[in-house]
Amino acid sequence: MNNVVKQVIFPAHLPEIIADVSAMQHRCLEARQAGRRISFVPTMGYLHEGHLSLLQEGRRRGDLLVLSIFVNPAQFGAGEDFESYPRDLSRDVDLARRCGVDLLFAPEVKDMYPRGYSTFVDVEGITDTLCGASRPGHFRGVTTVVAKLLAIIQPHQAFFGQKDFQQLTVIRRMCTDLNLPVEIVGMPIVREPDGLAMSSRNVNLSPQEREQALVLSRAISKARQMARGGAREIAEILTALRSMLEAQPALRIDYLQIAHQSTLQEQERVDADSVLFLAVFVGRTRLIDNGFLLS
Ligand code: PAF
Repeated sequence: MNNVVKQVIFPAHLPEIIADVSAMQHRCLEARQAGRRISFVPTMGYLHEGHLSLLQEGRRRGDLLVLSIFVNPAQFGAGEDFESYPRDLSRDVDLARRCGVDLLFAPEVKDMYPRGYSTFVDVEGITDTLCGASRPGHFRGVTTVVAKLLAIIQPHQAFFGQKDFQQLTVIRRMCTDLNLPVEIVGMPIVREPDGLAMSSRNVNLSPQEREQALVLSRAISKARQMARGGAREIAEILTALRSMLEAQPALRIDYLQIAHQSTLQEQERVDADSVLFLAVFVGRTRLIDNGFLLS
């Protein structure tokens, strides 16, 4: 199984599980006033080693480690996998315990978005491209829920994975623009030994699909190899990658782009800021991956 987590990182202690929004806010405010440094890892659950690396760093840098598990309907479009998104709270609680999580926030949809809810956070520009172009409204849902979670938990630092590179960029922009007093920490992609980037959605892949999904990390290696070998024309690199990806029968390309790491705008020539971004459907499962070409 893809999502088996092997590491036991910290001595076990049971996290306190809180579903109530006001109780959570109160508990975190109290901790903050008592001078505790709050680390926060927001997730949609079904934890994997990528999440554990965020928890591990959060534990290392903070006194109170808070994990949220909330499958946020606002970031799923019509026909996307909100209903079928993998969920297993008791498994997650056990992993949280092994990672030394102090508070586990698991609110219900009706409490995060009560009747009459009408406020949304929209970061413009950098959400028009990549996943924002393929999934209209997705980032509006992400920034809205992350802004709410930050307001409830009021962490000193919050941890996000670089696998969702655009999400990380958008969240940093939101925090800067709204003057939110939180440090956003980006953590490296965690991969399976064969290169597949860790994702909660990997569990949905059949063995054949999983095999074909390996082409994502291979495409990143190929692009790096070309760039490091001197190739600078992005069109030439993308042509080579497209034929690699199209050779996999179960795979459909959503997007394949090389863009600037900060503006997320497509580039014509490779430079030190160039990042390859990939999104594909393998069967019915949508996977994303990314990697710098030169650094
Ligand atoms: O990356 C995720 O799991 C989600 O987009 C997040 C940041 C928890 C918001 O729902």
